[in-house]
Amino acid sequence: MTRSDDPRLRTDLAGISLRNPVILAAGTAGLCDELAGVLDLSRVGAVVTKSITREPRTGNPTWRIVPTKAGLLNAIGLANPGIDRFMDEIAPRLADVPTKVIGSIAGTSIEDYAHVAGAMDTLTEIPAVELNVSCPNVHGGTEFGTDPEVLHRLVAEVRARLGQTKLCVKLSPIAVGRPGMVEVAAAAIEAGADILTIANTIPAMGIDVRTRRPVLSNITGGLSGPAVHPVAVKLVHDVYVGVAKKARVPIVGVGGVSSWDDAAELILAGAGAVQVGTILFADPKAPIRIARGLGRWLDSQRIGTIGGMVGQVLDGR
Ligand SMILES: Cc1cc2nc3c(=O)[nH]c(=O)nc-3n(C[C@H](O)[C@H](O)[C@H](O)COP(=O)(O)O)c2cc1C
Repeated sequence: MTRSDDPRLRTDLAGISLRNPVILAAGTAGLCDELAGVLDLSRVGAVVTKSITREPRTGNPTWRIVPTKAGLLNAIGLANPGIDRFMDEIAPRLADVPTKVIGSIAGTSIEDYAHVAGAMDTLTEIPAVELNVSCPNVHGGTEFGTDPEVLHRLVAEVRARLGQTKLCVKLSPIAVGRPGMVEVAAAAIEAGADILTIANTIPAMGIDVRTRRPVLSNITGGLSGPAVHPVAVKLVHDVYVGVAKKARVPIVGVGGVSSWDDAAELILAGAGAVQVGTILFADPKAPIRIARGLGRWLDSQRIGTIGGMVGQVLDGR
């Protein structure tokens, strides 16, 4: 038995059984199996696909990924082959992926999301879809993830298109202000979300002081990596305490996880599983290291299962 087959790390996400709680985040692990040459996918809990849209997208011109002192700035612009090519060319590969595959969906209208969800729902190899709601709503002008009413409508419509497939909603950290993350999360749950992923990248910008131009062709982008980790811990904690624990809706924590203790922090804050993204660019084998470290943490804390740690942060210092 390798440590990442450790049965104590088995995780249940709304009825989906994962071998461990370490998941590869959307957009950082290819369409489904591209990392297989450098990372044994049978040792991760699941992989999330790149966000798939109704139509193909080429995304933004370069530069669209730029390193910062504590993470990455990206404005990929949702480059992806679109759902028709996904169904023709990627779906046939899914049965050979040795872990669970979660289908990420993006769109600019409710109908777009529902269309892609309906197609993914026909794939038995995809037990859950994850809605990337950090996308501008062309009809409403704001992001889906910032407006509880619009998000409620989106989640309810997608829910109606799904059969057995679980529905995961990946919230946008823009909801840090008002309405807050808890209100947005509550709307998603009320509309039928089975799982919440918290959170996507944080809007950010960098400037090259020599050329005096923005470092990204898109001018602004999303910040990920170690810089965002404490923000993710707070958002997971807020939503767990504010709504998810009572509603018994599991949270997947994501943001700056690069070692087992980052993952453990999100689990203590209330996450039942974690996703890793930016670290994969520097160390694609990091998920194996993180899963092993979580096993050793359970030993040191004398706790029998990883589920026993969810939300177990103690009060005060
Ligand atoms: C290059 C890159 C591409 C990404 N593409 C997507 C995407 O297609 N859909 C999505 O929901 N999130 C996407 N994300 C966000 C990640 O899934 C994750 O939420 C975020 O990077 C925070 O996690 P991390 O700090 O571990 O990277 C992307 C992130 C990066 C760095």
